[in-house]
Amino acid sequence: MLILGMDTSCDDTAAAVVRDGIEIISDVVSNQNEIHEKYGGIVPELASRRHVEMITPVVNEALANAKVDIKEIDAIAVTHGPGLIGSLLVGVCFAKSLSYVHKIPIVAVNHLEGHICSYFLESNPEFPFLALVVSGGHTSIYKVKGFGSYSEIGRTRDDAAGEAYDKVAKLLGFGYPGGPVIDELASKGNPQSIQFPRSFLKDSYDFSFSGLKTAVLHYVRKNPEARKEDIAAGFQAAVIDVLVGRSIEVAKKYGISRITLSGGVAANKGLRNNMVENALKEGIGVFLPSNSLCTDNAAMIASAGYYHFLNNKFASYELNPKAVLPLGSAPS
Ligand code: KG4
Ligand code: ZN
Repeated sequence: MLILGMDTSCDDTAAAVVRDGIEIISDVVSNQNEIHEKYGGIVPELASRRHVEMITPVVNEALANAKVDIKEIDAIAVTHGPGLIGSLLVGVCFAKSLSYVHKIPIVAVNHLEGHICSYFLESNPEFPFLALVVSGGHTSIYKVKGFGSYSEIGRTRDDAAGEAYDKVAKLLGFGYPGGPVIDELASKGNPQSIQFPRSFLKDSYDFSFSGLKTAVLHYVRKNPEARKEDIAAGFQAAVIDVLVGRSIEVAKKYGISRITLSGGVAANKGLRNNMVENALKEGIGVFLPSNSLCTDNAAMIASAGYYHFLNNKFASYELNPKAVLPLGSAPS
């Protein structure tokens, strides 16, 4: 079964063809980094305009690379939220038009579910597992009991981890996206030389990164001569301690023996190494997707869409994007 996936939730225009929810036949991503770089973050109106320009060539390229005619596609899986409303609207409208013209059913996918399903594209999933989704817009931990069965155990109360990376990069004078720059700088700095605060909330597995970001801002103002490498290393060490510490704590509490990482921040070298090293000590296995499947892509959306397709969960032409779209139930 062939699913054409599409994602325009943020600043990447993505389309992919995936067979049976697991085999990537083609995967095309057009990023907008050069547009947003100079602003130090995403400008929503510029993002949606670029999606309008790119959606047709990106979808055509995904079909061409897969050597598949649109008539061979069994369903179109499209992200309908959460994300930037103007950006989402482009993907949803395009999917509805393709569906109408070619009589192909649509399945609507939650972007966060897509990130979780990136696991299924490279590994045989074993349930239950814990999914840490860390991106520019989200930082959440889910207990995944089966396909489509998610309980959110914790989420950020303010900034997402990726957002904190982007803001710290901006205040150190770098462009967007900041995560890869800080990751690289951190590898050349001393993580012990500057101690930034770690926020472990009491009575909750929620996260908070805005205090850390503000602490970095104050430090940079007071110490203009400090090495950027050490600031990056100190900041990254604080983020990693919280993400890894909390994930392992939650896994132990719920008796879960595997953790998956996904979302753009999951590409972070320090986070990946630290998670594997510390989880191993507790007998917990860690699954790390390839870097291209950590950041936004449409293969993960096609994979998630496949399971909706199997459950006959089709969307109608009433489908509208939603900027806010929670995933899953309360923890049990
Ligand atoms: O998942 P994603 O592509 O888009 C969202 O759904 O938000 O994640 C983008 C985020 C950005 O904040 C970017 O700075 C961050 O992921 N990121 C990283 C790394 N690569 C991307 N953060 C830390 N280290 C990285 N290597
Ligand atoms: Zn994402």
